[in-house]
Amino acid sequence: MSNYHIKHLEEYYQVYRKSVREPENFWEEVAEEHFMWRKKWDNVLSWDFSKPEVKWFEGAQLNITENCIDRHLATRGNKTAILFEPNNPNEASISISYKELSERVNKFANVLKDHGIEKGDRVCIYLPMIPKLAVSVLACARIGAIHSVVFAGFSSTALSTRINDSQCKMVITSDGSYRGSKTIDLKGIVDEALNDCSCVETVLVVKRIQSDIHMESGRDKWLQPLLDNASSICPVEVMNAEDPLFILYTSGSTGMPKGMVHTTAGYMVYTAYTFKNVFQYREDDIYWCTADIGWITGHSYIVYGPLANGATTVMFEGVPSYPDYGRFWEIVQKHKINQFYTAPTAIRALAKQGLEVVEKYDLSSLKTLGSVGEPINEEAWHWYNDNIGKKKSPIVDTWWQTETGGIMITPIPFVTPTKPTYATLPFIGIQPALMDENGYEIKGNQVDGRLCIKFPWPSMARTIWGNHQRYKDTYFSAFENKYFTGDGALRDEVGYYRITGRVDDVIIVSGHNLGTAPIEDAVNEHPAVAESAIVGFPHDVKGNALYGYVILKDTGESRDHTNLRKEINQIITEHIGPIAKLDKIQFTPGLPKTRSGKIMRRILRKIACNDTSNLGDTSTLLNPEVVQSIIDGAKDSK
Ligand code: PRX
Repeated sequence: MSNYHIKHLEEYYQVYRKSVREPENFWEEVAEEHFMWRKKWDNVLSWDFSKPEVKWFEGAQLNITENCIDRHLATRGNKTAILFEPNNPNEASISISYKELSERVNKFANVLKDHGIEKGDRVCIYLPMIPKLAVSVLACARIGAIHSVVFAGFSSTALSTRINDSQCKMVITSDGSYRGSKTIDLKGIVDEALNDCSCVETVLVVKRIQSDIHMESGRDKWLQPLLDNASSICPVEVMNAEDPLFILYTSGSTGMPKGMVHTTAGYMVYTAYTFKNVFQYREDDIYWCTADIGWITGHSYIVYGPLANGATTVMFEGVPSYPDYGRFWEIVQKHKINQFYTAPTAIRALAKQGLEVVEKYDLSSLKTLGSVGEPINEEAWHWYNDNIGKKKSPIVDTWWQTETGGIMITPIPFVTPTKPTYATLPFIGIQPALMDENGYEIKGNQVDGRLCIKFPWPSMARTIWGNHQRYKDTYFSAFENKYFTGDGALRDEVGYYRITGRVDDVIIVSGHNLGTAPIEDAVNEHPAVAESAIVGFPHDVKGNALYGYVILKDTGESRDHTNLRKEINQIITEHIGPIAKLDKIQFTPGLPKTRSGKIMRRILRKIACNDTSNLGDTSTLLNPEVVQSIIDGAKDSK
């Protein structure tokens, strides 16, 4: 276990140097020591960022579920694999042991097979955070089907777009979901989505809220009776190292969401290795990541990374505010959570509630705190450190992306001295570079630039489903021979990284990536709207919120702006989901444009932030006069 658990800073530097000097030897050793292979690799790595093509552990054969489940059965069969905490605190939590997980996954895998699902088929999973979500993910992986989990807060249009893009044959959903005091009609959303999806043959339905739903005959089936009749033995499909494991969609700054494709062996090795080190997980620890499995954080650090380590991973169905804002801390106390991993937006929302709701609970089990999804501001960092970690649990501010598959820049707890708002040092094997606008790498410290990665790592996405050219254009064309993250970063005097935010038109709202173009497309669907531009502005809980500038076709005073605002947000909810709703809408006679017709978002961002002191040179605009009218109109935005 020499290089599996890093214990002090010197060891970090030593292992880091080795991982950079001899990456192939390094990853080969990790892969040799800790996983179960049906056949070992012929070649550790081949890569060419100009194509781009990256292959790890080529020639190896394995199944990730043997690594996440079967190999633990002999030593950890009765250990809890998944600890489920329901939305309603009065409903009992459920512990699923590795042995039970094995049975559940095997049965589910057999049901998939009985419905014609084979290796390489795509299965869309649209489920709430209940154990069946993790089980269905693993069942797909067991038979080599490619899962495409869609976050169950997305609208029917967003769902059908994703189903059609990867031509899913099956959808797994539930009658509905609980979300705090509300219920959501998931099956209704699926029915609507499927009006536009001819590729779907079967819908398996989990009973969760016991609601009365429509079941389309010949297409929709209740899952439970099928599971009851299925065998609990399902031999694995032996997969090649580079066979796709899953597709997960992420927003781009333009166009369709991108179906990031992750493959099997490298993803497994990297998520398992990072999980163990970034959370310093020990055998009897209880680990809780509050993300949803609909996002990459849930894939890598609720399901695959923890289970590959034989860990106990908590799944929480509810929201931090139900039945009150003490819920997270109540769960920490109840399950004696050792590692707690959440998002800055949740920390900010909880910090607003005052300390009484925190002080009621015993948080002494906590050893490590994590943060992910967006930059954590200084105030939130200190609140988390002082009141939750009581200054004894290090905060790991983990920077990574859907595309990177695993954590890339992060402190290692009890190893890397932390610094508020800094993700600190590259993880083992990760070679960041800061680039200037002319395409040159900026060397040395106390510099800032565009964050790139200059060498492959095992869990990087290999392509965009059905559009390799877009993968190349988006990530490998801005800087030669480097993966471009889309983020800006600075490197301080000791080499610590601080992520400063997106440098493209993606806005991170409550930790969720939102591209401006798809939201603008939705707004423009309103019959009264001529044109729109969306920018982000700082928000004390969400990190960023959305500000929409809208030009109406008919600017007559008679228009009821309050209703228009509601209607515009309703269209956004239908097209994308409630997370993309605009916090403020300003109706404006025009938008500042360059002579080539491009909207000058820089100016709009400044006005949205109420920072109009230095708008820069506006004289080159096609319509400089419009700027003053936007500034004047900003006070009426709502
Ligand atoms: O801008 C960065 C921000 O989230 C983006 C990736 O979003 P997504 O693919 O949804 O994955 C989120 C979970 C891994 C990044 O490009 N981001 C993520 N983590 C951090 C962050 N920004 C600052 N600090 C972080 N720790």
